[in-house]
Amino acid sequence: MSDQSQSLLQNTRRRLAALSDTPYLDAQVLLSHVLGRQRVWILAHPSPSLTPRQRENLAQALLRLESGVPLPYVIGRWEFYALDFTITPHVLIPRPETELLVEKALNWLRRHPARRSCADIGTGSGCIAITLAKHIPDAKILATDISFRALRVAQGNARKHDVEAQISFLGDNLLAGVTQRFDVVCANLPYVPTPALKTLKVYGREPTQALDGGPKGLTVIQSLMEMVPRNLAPGGLILLEIDSSHSLEAARLAQGAFPAAEVRLHADLAGHDRILAIQT
Ligand SMILES: C[S@@+](CC[C@H](N)C(=O)[O-])C[C@H]1O[C@@H](n2cnc3c(N)ncnc32)[C@H](O)[C@@H]1O
Repeated sequence: MSDQSQSLLQNTRRRLAALSDTPYLDAQVLLSHVLGRQRVWILAHPSPSLTPRQRENLAQALLRLESGVPLPYVIGRWEFYALDFTITPHVLIPRPETELLVEKALNWLRRHPARRSCADIGTGSGCIAITLAKHIPDAKILATDISFRALRVAQGNARKHDVEAQISFLGDNLLAGVTQRFDVVCANLPYVPTPALKTLKVYGREPTQALDGGPKGLTVIQSLMEMVPRNLAPGGLILLEIDSSHSLEAARLAQGAFPAAEVRLHADLAGHDRILAIQT
């Protein structure tokens, strides 16, 4: 039952409190979706009147959230690096940690204006490839994924952001069928150790193929390390998102694949090792 003395925003926040660590923000996002308004408009109008259709849509969305469906799948979109991405249950929900990887790639590309050939391995929604393309208009990017359903979502996002001409999409196991060399290789591959995955809230809610990194979380990353030396241009950069539980092991693999490279770990805002950078 909603409390008549409280705003719709407050009532929605209360309903989400048991489901989310950020119920106020989620309530704003949900209401802005249902009403087709910007989030700032909701903040300025916390008690908007809803049409019967909007009331029904809100009720259905709340029921889906309460049944465990993540908010981005309920509203079909999510923001990454200030861009709006279409999101379906076939793709991982883009995470703020991945913005750090994009930031590092953009900084490098801005410092190296003659180097514009990029790869995004395990593109999912396409959030990395598309953000690079939006910010570096002369970059050319190959985006691969083993999931054809994910690739369809990524292609739709490239159309939505008008960067189709800059990105080629390829269904592939990492870079197995690719002979091209790249200046920058970005990859946010599945890296959750299988035993840990089963204990996480995301398990069964986001695609297992996007999360499951094998027994120690490094199976897919190790495969990439074995094949990527032939795909990197001299002096190129590799940026990998990793889990802090295996950061030293991942760095060791990287140094083994690129003995002469500078291998560095970068922490996320929570202070956890999150990005492995290999500068050859
Ligand atoms: C952690 S998600 C990352 C998605 C997106 N890049 C992002 O940052 O939100 C990993 C992606 O890698 C894909 N993937 C898993 N194994 C792969 C493989 N062997 N080759 C290519 N892609 C793979 C999954 O389908 C999934 O889309």
